Amino acid sequence: MTQARPMVAAPSTTAPSVALSGAALRFGDRTLWDDLDLAIAPGEFLAVLGPNGAGKTSLLQVLLGLRKLSAGAVEVGGRPPRRGSSVVGYVPQQKAFDRDLPLRGRDLVRLGLDGHRWGLARRNRETRDRVARVIDDVGATAYADAPLGLLSGGEQQRLRIAQALLGDPTVLLCDEPLLSLDLHHQRAVSELIDTRRRAANISVVFVTHEINPILSMVDRVLYLVGGRWAVGPPDEIMTSERLSDLYNTDIDVLRVRGRIVVVGTPDAAHGEPGGDHHHPVDTGPVPGPPRAPAGSTGGRTG
Ligand SMILES: Nc1ncnc2c1ncn2[C@@H]1O[C@H](COP(=O)(O)OP(=O)(O)O)[C@@H](O)[C@H]1O
Ligand SMILES: [Mg+2]
Repeated sequence: MTQARPMVAAPSTTAPSVALSGAALRFGDRTLWDDLDLAIAPGEFLAVLGPNGAGKTSLLQVLLGLRKLSAGAVEVGGRPPRRGSSVVGYVPQQKAFDRDLPLRGRDLVRLGLDGHRWGLARRNRETRDRVARVIDDVGATAYADAPLGLLSGGEQQRLRIAQALLGDPTVLLCDEPLLSLDLHHQRAVSELIDTRRRAANISVVFVTHEINPILSMVDRVLYLVGGRWAVGPPDEIMTSERLSDLYNTDIDVLRVRGRIVVVGTPDAAHGEPGGDHHHPVDTGPVPGPPRAPAGSTGGRTG
């Protein structure tokens, strides 16, 4: 199904930081997504949502140059993606560090220089200063010299973000960076990312199961489900009609005290750690925004 697809509903007229056109990713006869057209503007915050196995991580791997498209084209910073590019910062899906890991936060951050453009001659002092500055930027100075494994999940995540920011990326890819953080740290970590995005006009691609902690920051949502996708502003995509269409089953999207509550997805993808949204208060049906046609939808039908 082809329709006119506005490439960017975003605040800028400059060249996109990330551009996908006719992009598809398949494994055997299984299609994760296809016919994906998406241009991400400098400074844009894109949330990537969808159930487990929808291909969110695989999309980041494509942008990192670790995975090839099955069809279509992709550019990051105006070039085909390649490993180790300094254009891209990456916050991988969080795993807790081993308690005995003999590595300090400061060491982890410095590893962000691997494959980086800085030459040997500029190591040492300049590198040390740069690492110290980025650690300070994320507010991690107080614990940067403690063993990583002894830090809290939120502290570890700040250091991962510092590592990703070390090379001054123009595109920041984050794979479920809020997973296993409590609400306080979810807020702190997402605000940290958002602040840096605004200060340096970084494009953020933020894979998440839970849109509420970042709802106020998100420009557009890319929603992937079973080979189908939709992209547009949250008000347009996070509606009963659009999600029911994507999932091909009845989904209810409610707005409860400024939060989005999704009821009826086949998996528990929208569960929030400690969240209570499966028991929404009795708000009655919430009128959705006007059914605007400005977003895009693609992928196989049926
Ligand atoms: N090399 C591969 N060969 C076959 N299937 C794969 C391969 N890599 C990933 N997959 C499958 O692709 C699907 C999407 O994975 P992923 O991108 O990690 O999804 P998400 O991050 O949305 O949960 C998963 O079902 C996974 O098993
Ligand atoms: Mg994933």
